[in-house]
Amino acid sequence: MSNELTLTSDFVKVLKERRSVRHYDPHVKISRDELKEMLELALTAPSSSNLQPWRFLIIDDQELQEKLLPIANNQQQVRDASAVIAVLGDLKSYEQAEKIYNRTAEAGFMSEEIKNAMIQNSVRMYGGLAPERLHRINQFDAGLVSMQLMLVARAKGYDTVPMGGYNVEKFKEAFSVPETLEPALLIAIGKAAQPGHPSSRLTVDEVTYWNEFH
Ligand SMILES: Cc1cc2nc3c(=O)[nH]c(=O)nc-3n(C[C@H](O)[C@H](O)[C@H](O)COP(=O)(O)O)c2cc1C
Repeated sequence: MSNELTLTSDFVKVLKERRSVRHYDPHVKISRDELKEMLELALTAPSSSNLQPWRFLIIDDQELQEKLLPIANNQQQVRDASAVIAVLGDLKSYEQAEKIYNRTAEAGFMSEEIKNAMIQNSVRMYGGLAPERLHRINQFDAGLVSMQLMLVARAKGYDTVPMGGYNVEKFKEAFSVPETLEPALLIAIGKAAQPGHPSSRLTVDEVTYWNEFH
């Protein structure tokens, strides 16, 4: 019980301490193993039909970070952070349905019958959706995994900033993004050189309605 309480308060601390950090120590490099460890935890995020449409391009090469800089409005975190993680959505996510549901069934989490139905349904449904619909679903799921990644990073003592301020078309061109992948967000990750500035929030009452809008 006390363990649970400690974990809860730690989690609240992580939530409250995460801030968008825009000044990074350029000398800190996060190892690929550690980046993978953080991603692995972030991948526990929920997604539509568990199709996990997120894909990541991790840019940890200094030259490529410099190349990204003007594409991302010269935001200095792009150059100084340990890495920039581009989160993209796969418009062919349903092609992974078989792999995902087979894995789920093999682990004993799903019967063969349900597995087969899920594969068939998701391929039919998602495969039949207009790209704009799929794009919207993917962007939403990309947001969920991104949030998890930013919280995991904070829990491990790192800092992040999500960035929508970049030229998507130029990014696709510069990094030869395959046509089936649509960029959602860039996330700079590293060690803060300066803390992020505090920001305020609308209150619960200002953003919440009960049962009806008034
Ligand atoms: C979708 C999205 C796009 C954002 N784009 C940028 C950006 O391009 N550059 C930047 O410095 N911050 C960006 N931010 C960070 C927000 O400015 C920041 O989250 C907000 O001001 C609240 O501050 P906090 O993250 O420190 O709590 C973005 C945030 C989100 C969610």
